[in-house]
Amino acid sequence: MPTHLNTPRADELPEVMSTLASWQTDDTPLQLHPGDIGWQLRLGADATAAMVRTWSRNGEILAIGMLDGPELLRLAIDPTVQQNDDLAHVLVQDLDDQGRGVLRVSPSSLEVPNGVRLREALTAAGWTTGEAWTPLEMDLAEPVEDPGVRIEVVGPELAGMRATVHLESFDGSQFTEEHWRTMRTATGAGDSRCLLALDVDGAAVAATTIWTAGMGRAGLIEPLGVGREHRGHGYGAAITRAGVAMLRELGASRALVATPSANTAAVATYESAGFTAMPQRSDLQRPEPSLSS
Ligand SMILES: CC(C)(COP(=O)(O)OP(=O)(O)OC[C@H]1O[C@@H](n2cnc3c(N)ncnc32)[C@H](O)[C@@H]1OP(=O)(O)O)[C@@H](O)C(=O)NCCC(=O)NCCS
Repeated sequence: MPTHLNTPRADELPEVMSTLASWQTDDTPLQLHPGDIGWQLRLGADATAAMVRTWSRNGEILAIGMLDGPELLRLAIDPTVQQNDDLAHVLVQDLDDQGRGVLRVSPSSLEVPNGVRLREALTAAGWTTGEAWTPLEMDLAEPVEDPGVRIEVVGPELAGMRATVHLESFDGSQFTEEHWRTMRTATGAGDSRCLLALDVDGAAVAATTIWTAGMGRAGLIEPLGVGREHRGHGYGAAITRAGVAMLRELGASRALVATPSANTAAVATYESAGFTAMPQRSDLQRPEPSLSS
């Protein structure tokens, strides 16, 4: 049975995200989450759909990729076929087509979950280790410690403030109130909440967005930041605890987050809030083309 590589239309995105959500079970290694696609929905459903690739067999989606810029493709694989040799072989071939085929791009880096057959197949094909990431998890069976600061759930009236905190937290960000509105109203965005932490004077100091994948599945923190002026006062750990408590309230079984291992402040913040680091996961780098090819 042939495997079809496809770029979904915007109206097919909800189905892709719902399939991706169904893969977020507790025994699956951290991989691309519907929240990762949800965060891209700030750019609109058409632009987001254009970043997505699906591999299907017999009408069933087996792998989903999302381009995070032209150089990085982030992949998730259906947990029931993560050890499948045929699928790994097809993916390696499609990823090696130098952008000529349906993939249409030739990303230099891949995010591939730990423990899947595809990692071995790519390594055998010459792909090498790239940037190291630290995935972290928190079980949500028990209640989460109180954040200890004032927290607001962002609605339209606080969207401007949420955008400002994001700009103050991430270098080079262009996030706007309009992006927030587009993201919130996009179909298929799933159950998400934006939270703001406020200091004693009522100034917004930290923000996060959390994404569920449905009841009893893993939820995701993406993104989370504290304004540069406000760092080092516990707001990072506080907004993390607030996000995790919200995920628990919405029925998530555990909370997940991943950050570059080099971002020691973020790793320390998530651990301080109660997350446990899982084994590192490295991106895979495309081999340099040989001179003879
Ligand atoms: C990461 C970030 C959220 C931390 O926010 P913060 O308010 O300064 O963090 P906190 O004050 O709550 O500190 C939490 C813990 O992290 C530790 N920490 C914070 N910054 C640190 C740093 N630069 N180096 C080492 N440890 C650090 C603190 O000591 C504290 O540990 P403790 O509870 O064991 O004492 C903030 O630096 C940030 O917004 N960075 C840019 C965006 C980003 O990287 N987001 C996360 C990845 S998406």
